[in-house]
Amino acid sequence: MARAAAFDLEDFLARSRALDLSGIDWSRARAEPLSAAERRILPYFIDVESYTIAYLRALLNTAAIRDAEICDFLGCWLYEEAYHGRALARFLREAGHPLDPRRPKSVERPARAWEALQDAAASALSRAFAQDFVAVHMTWGAIQELSTLNGYRRLAERTENSALAEIVRRVMRDESRHFSFYYHKAEERLSRSPRAQRLTAFLVKRFWKPVGAGIMPQAEIDFLVGYLFSGPRGLEEVRHVDRTIARLPGMGWFRGLEDYVSAARDRLGRDPADAAQMRQGKAHSI
Ligand SMILES: [Fe+2]
Ligand SMILES: [Fe+2]
Repeated sequence: MARAAAFDLEDFLARSRALDLSGIDWSRARAEPLSAAERRILPYFIDVESYTIAYLRALLNTAAIRDAEICDFLGCWLYEEAYHGRALARFLREAGHPLDPRRPKSVERPARAWEALQDAAASALSRAFAQDFVAVHMTWGAIQELSTLNGYRRLAERTENSALAEIVRRVMRDESRHFSFYYHKAEERLSRSPRAQRLTAFLVKRFWKPVGAGIMPQAEIDFLVGYLFSGPRGLEEVRHVDRTIARLPGMGWFRGLEDYVSAARDRLGRDPADAAQMRQGKAHSI
């Protein structure tokens, strides 16, 4: 089993800071095109970024709190994610499409059934399996960070708005470091416990969904993954995510993102309005 390069936690902690927005030419946000699809998916990204605090709450209810490295990481992780959401919200304001101040915050929305079930299972299983359960969260985090990173990459590739592309590229640098931490920790935890591997495989198979799936309507998630991961380039990214996760001990079976994207595409195919908006992605400028 190939091991990931070691993660330098001290370096991560020393470098952690709010997203650097210096030098961004905000006038380009409004001057350059922003497609209807981009206007639809950016609030989703913002919600996912701001929901990090709720994931943190779930994580701290587990034995993860007894791992000093994880605790050191989480403080900086939350801080960085919050600034990703703020940067994207500012971009939308500068582009002339501010978020509706009346829309409920992501943490105020009622969690969907599977999310509530997952929380309940997490705390019960965490008590029963204690340390092994940390491997589940670390693997889960690695999948979410890597798929987020690749989603941002597709957004930067597809957009015709240079300000958005630059902000997203800077966010990606943080997401890449987040992914490295989770992946490294997942590998460490899985490789030392076959029971952790079995527990992780069992729970990821049954409960895993793309990041944000617990708080966003199904139609919006389908639209997002369809938009970001359509076409040969999208499929390439999706397979890269699945292959990388499948290299973790006990995860060789994983192809969760490709399965999810293909199911989402089937559902989208039934909605001609969504399909048209997605195709227009680039052409449909304001
Ligand atoms: Fe983020
Ligand atoms: Fe992240």
